[in-house]
Formats: sequence, C-alpha cells, structure tokens
Amino acid sequence: MPYHYAKHRRPITDALRQTVTEDLPEIADIADPDLRHGAVEAWAYALACSDFGRITDIPPEGNPGLSVLKRGTQADHLRGVAHLALRFVEEFQQTNPEIVVDRDIVLTGALCHDVGKPYEFDPSNMKRWKADPSETGHPTLRHSVFGAHVCLAVGLPEEIAHIALGHSLEGQHIGVSTECLIVRHADHTWWQVAGGLGLLKPDSMGSAERMVRARPLSTEKPLAAE
Ligand SMILES: [Fe+2]
Repeated sequence: MPYHYAKHRRPITDALRQTVTEDLPEIADIADPDLRHGAVEAWAYALACSDFGRITDIPPEGNPGLSVLKRGTQADHLRGVAHLALRFVEEFQQTNPEIVVDRDIVLTGALCHDVGKPYEFDPSNMKRWKADPSETGHPTLRHSVFGAHVCLAVGLPEEIAHIALGHSLEGQHIGVSTECLIVRHADHTWWQVAGGLGLLKPDSMGSAERMVRARPLSTEKPLAAE
C-alpha cells in the first residue's frame, strides 16, 4: 500500500507570501511581529502543500460541498470572521473595560482558523480520499486538524493552533480558550447569517444552517409562496 505525505508541492517564495498579505490585508493590523510573520508563514506553508495558487483560489465553502457561497472567495469568509471577532471584543471592552482578552490572538486566530482548508479542499486529495476511504479516511485530516499542524509547524504559538483546532467540530470535545470561543462564534455566526441573507447556495446548507430560512437577494426572484 503506498504511503502519502502532506509535504510541500512547490517552494515557499516571497511571491507566494505576498499573495497572502494581498488576500488578507488585515494581517497588517496584527501588532505582534512574530504573530504577523507567523500568519503569513502559515498560509504560505498550507498553500504550498496544495495545488491552490492563493487563498482567493480556495472555493468559498465552509466544508467541502457544504455552506457554499453563491459568489466570493474563501478570503471574504476569513476577513469577515476577523472583522466580526474583533467587533465582539470591542463591544465587550466598551461596556466592560475590566475584561481580559488578547486582541492579537483573536485577530491572528481568526485569520488563521481555516488555514487547513488548502489541504482538505485540495482537488487531488479529495479525489484520492473519495476513491478509497478505507485506505485513506475521508478526509484523512479535517481542515481544523491539519490547520493546527500547520500553525505549530511554522512556529505559531499553541494559542493559535488551538483556535484552528477548536473553531470547528473538534472544539466540542475540548475546553476552548476565551479567544477560541470568540473566533468560533464569529465563524459560525458568519455562515449562519450569510445563509439567512440568501448568500449561500440553498442545496449546500447543512445541519449548521438548519434553523435558517433564506431570504432571496434583491437581484433574485422571490420564492414562490407555498
Ligand atoms: Fe471558517
């Protein structure tokens, strides 16, 4: 049986790093230089382990085939989650100045929470997993798990790896940090509100959007009355 290695398929270059800062301009707002550097390295590392050229090439989906945006890119999701997560922090800091929260960990964690998606969404990985799940698992590693690996591999702190792991289903099995909790809610809220506002393909809404009744966009025909 052949073994598989999730290694780099191409070199990590400055040109690749530049696409990361172009697609996620909010990285410039991370105050800590090590976190700022680590966020760029994490995305460059993850992209180089896949066939995706840049973040905006990754399909705009929550999971493969689920919560699929009608338009836009994965960068729209990442940036939206970062904006929402920071607003949670600002809201509570304004009304409760005694709270303690690490804004830099929230921002870096939000921008990196889906850093495992290049691996889980990679077409050749998906094709291999589908061909024989008994050999590989399907997927071998979810994006949350691979994302935690990427964060640690590039030297980001455990606090960021924890957010990559705990923002998704895996977070249900562990205690999550306050910063992870904020990113997790920003992420889930972003997808559910996108669903309610009619931004998701109706046939892609899964259990995460079970309460959602999508409203048509102003550019779409109203749904027929039942
Ligand atoms: Fe996400």
